[in-house]
Amino acid sequence: MLLALVLGTLSPASCRGPSEAPAPAARTRPIPMDVHSHSQPNRVRVTHVALDLDLDLQARRAAGAVELDLERLDLQAPLVLDAMALEIQGVSGPEGEPREWELGPADTRLGSPLTIRLRPADRRVRIAYRTTGGAQAMQWLAPEQTAGGRRPFLFTQGQSILTRSWIPLQDTPGVRVTYAAEIRAPEGLTPVMSAEQLGRGADGAWRFAMQLPIPSYLIALACGELEFRAISERCGVWAEPSVVDGAAREFEDTEKMVRAAESLFGPYRWGRYDLIILPPAFPFGGMENPRLTFATPTVLAGDKSLVALVAHELAHSWSGNLVTNATWSDFWLNEGFTVYLEQRIMERIYGVERARMEKQLALQELEQELKDLQPRDQVLHVDLRGRHPDEGFSGIPYEKGALFLRRLEEVFGRKTFDRFLERYFDAHAFQSITTAEFEDYLRRELFADASDLAAQVDVRRWLYEPGLPADAPRPRSAELERVDAQVARWTAGEPAGALDSSGWVTQQWLRFLNGLPESLDPARMAELDRAFRFTESGNSEILAKWLELSIRHGYRAADERLEAFLMNVGRRKFLKPLYTELAKSEAGKRRALEIYARARPRYHSVSTGTIDKILGWES
Ligand code: BES
Ligand code: ZN
Repeated sequence: MLLALVLGTLSPASCRGPSEAPAPAARTRPIPMDVHSHSQPNRVRVTHVALDLDLDLQARRAAGAVELDLERLDLQAPLVLDAMALEIQGVSGPEGEPREWELGPADTRLGSPLTIRLRPADRRVRIAYRTTGGAQAMQWLAPEQTAGGRRPFLFTQGQSILTRSWIPLQDTPGVRVTYAAEIRAPEGLTPVMSAEQLGRGADGAWRFAMQLPIPSYLIALACGELEFRAISERCGVWAEPSVVDGAAREFEDTEKMVRAAESLFGPYRWGRYDLIILPPAFPFGGMENPRLTFATPTVLAGDKSLVALVAHELAHSWSGNLVTNATWSDFWLNEGFTVYLEQRIMERIYGVERARMEKQLALQELEQELKDLQPRDQVLHVDLRGRHPDEGFSGIPYEKGALFLRRLEEVFGRKTFDRFLERYFDAHAFQSITTAEFEDYLRRELFADASDLAAQVDVRRWLYEPGLPADAPRPRSAELERVDAQVARWTAGEPAGALDSSGWVTQQWLRFLNGLPESLDPARMAELDRAFRFTESGNSEILAKWLELSIRHGYRAADERLEAFLMNVGRRKFLKPLYTELAKSEAGKRRALEIYARARPRYHSVSTGTIDKILGWES
């Protein structure tokens, strides 16, 4: 089993020997170096992943095998995969004969290299394995954490580098694979994946196929007591029985969004677009798994006020899933483009004013966040050497990225920029690209014939320097600014009940809460609460912001609601500011630790990774 190998690292140019078999052009493109993967895809490249797994929701384990199809660019080279906390049981070649393999030392962030010695004719290997309790991608929920309360639930979250904790593969976004899966689950539980659902075979296994090449972080699985409701011919929603009808109503505009996106950015190339509403432990708002967006139930506000999240995850069908960041330093290519597209979709469907409100709020939050960000993390093309991709996570790739694109739109005009965008998606469809490749394309396709306009955008400043350039567009919404006048009246002594808040929408309430004075006593908080019932809000964004203010200003009447929220919701975006605020005082920190000790087993590793650091938690 042990195997000594001399694993030289070859530069992409030197790795293609005379033995290379002709292969589709897109696949043989050299893959950029990714510091977050052990794999060496310029020597041996995985092209297809076939999963065969049994899900045991009691034991919290997936067991079975994966078969990997290979492209051999260097016949001398072994196959190197990423593996984290997996129990590898054996590796075999195409005819079932064993192959030598070795699991290298585990890096805490990256996991281990799994090195497999290949025979010259090997074009496929099979790895028998089981997941363990260390599978960071997988969250196994107890029945109490679901809406129904009777059955367990499982979901995976692969982005950024967690897929390797449930499937051994080349876990870099530079490598694209097609995939197929056969999943066995307990009776009454339905597995769904980011793929075409091929139904259940006579053997009881559920079958899936993704025939378009995707990066590994988009392979996703969920399993629970699920029902489906159609929204349109090609759109629908999966959720637990008690949630599914409300979700279908909340997201009834999804088909309209797909059509708006198609008319703006080119055809939707993935067939169906469905969503699944996960239990509230899901650590993100949404995750753009192809054909099946994973979403938090905290966006179900009842009035569609938080559906920008659907526009966002849908937009990733172009920026992210079709054209993918080649490394995690290029993450802004995914998220900055997506926020820009999201806002274009929102404008089309809900009007200019709604889009302006969302943009101005986002900019306000970015400016707030910038105050606490180190300069090196304020850069779009972020340096992640020696760091986990999550350590570079902030509003920068999202909002600064979107502002850069909005600046380009402003300078070149919407018509020209839209044509550029559509061509960009088409030219790079099903490819993974770097920031440098984007920059080249921009200069070739947008700047070349318009040097006077090009001179107005300092691209290198935008991409490689910290801070917000002075030419960043400053969105302004009259509807939001109307709110500021009411904040000023209250601050000047007008009673809360006398403010003019009639007809305010969610975004206006958020602006109101953002604009309150730095220091408030609990009695003033109580006055606001009596007038506006924030502690009882059913809108998660408003509630989370209010709870943060309640901690900051010692408003103890919200304590119970805060604790219930922390116990129930695992969405990192909400947990992070709440625990951070609690940790600012001695007593608050004690309370945070007391709650966290009970809540932590209910959170996903993505969230505990962040909160552990905030509270100095050692597990
Ligand atoms: N792809 C991201 C989520 C993500 C980012 C997962 C980085 C892992 C690592 C997703 O598209 C996203 O951005 N979600 C946002 C919602 C959005 C409306 C900004 C979220 O979860 O809050
Ligand atoms: Zn996103």
